[in-house]
Amino acid sequence: MSKLIDGKAFADRLCDKLADEVASLKQDKQLSPCIAVVLVGEDPASATYVGAKVRRCAQLGIDSRSHHLDDTTSEAELLSLIDDLNNDPEVHGILVQLPVPKQINSDAVINAISPDKDVDGFHISNVGALSVGQNNMVPCTPLGSLMLLQDELGDLSGKNAVVVGRSNIVGKPMAALLLQQSCTVTIAHSRTQDLPEVCRGADILVAAVGIPHFIQGDWIKPGATVIDVGINRIYDEALEKNRLVGDVDFDAAKEVAGAITPVPGGVGPMTIACLMYNTVRAAKNQAG
Ligand code: GUN
Repeated sequence: MSKLIDGKAFADRLCDKLADEVASLKQDKQLSPCIAVVLVGEDPASATYVGAKVRRCAQLGIDSRSHHLDDTTSEAELLSLIDDLNNDPEVHGILVQLPVPKQINSDAVINAISPDKDVDGFHISNVGALSVGQNNMVPCTPLGSLMLLQDELGDLSGKNAVVVGRSNIVGKPMAALLLQQSCTVTIAHSRTQDLPEVCRGADILVAAVGIPHFIQGDWIKPGATVIDVGINRIYDEALEKNRLVGDVDFDAAKEVAGAITPVPGGVGPMTIACLMYNTVRAAKNQAG
């Protein structure tokens, strides 16, 4: 039986520290960290994520400004809002929840956000900075996953890390962070040959494919550390309701892995905690 990596508890501890930091920034520096959260359209999952982000802000004393735009919003209208937020000195972080409706080009939106306010770390200049080790804003899910790995394993140097999934939001920045920690990194994806065998070489296995229970128990090296980034909603026949599951077949994997993150309660809470972390950092950077 593997050890459960409690992302919820780690995220709560990080948020407690950030709440103390926010209180002293307000008191000593008259600086009130503030994030603008933009939701376009009515996607229910996006609305849930945005709600969770805004609630966490309130708990930490971070100001949040919610902008809910209708799903017929044009790209020009969204870009105009981003321009206003870029020029508002009271706003330190800007997050546009993805995906955006199809009439809007998400790359144009991401790259319109001032890189120093890009608390998601998706702007092309933040991506470039990460790739050459000049980290500015680092994407929240990979950053949170790295924190859990370092807490669990300490020094990651020399470990074989396999990242399954090559998205811009998780897979690629996760690989960049692990490489910075001197791991030997493999990025596997849907065209990878003999994926089970590639996974079996991993001391650290990060699953970010978005397919429920995709990674099987016998793909895992005994004792490996498994980070499950997946958040998939499936209908559970036995429970007769929906439930969240990861990209890893948890019940099988926990018999083999050394340590594993559960879903829910693993990486998910860390993503939001790292958004808070990036917002506080952005506020401090902009205050000079
Ligand atoms: N949609 C899914 N994940 C994310 C995220 O980390 N940030 C934003 N802005 N949208 C998302």
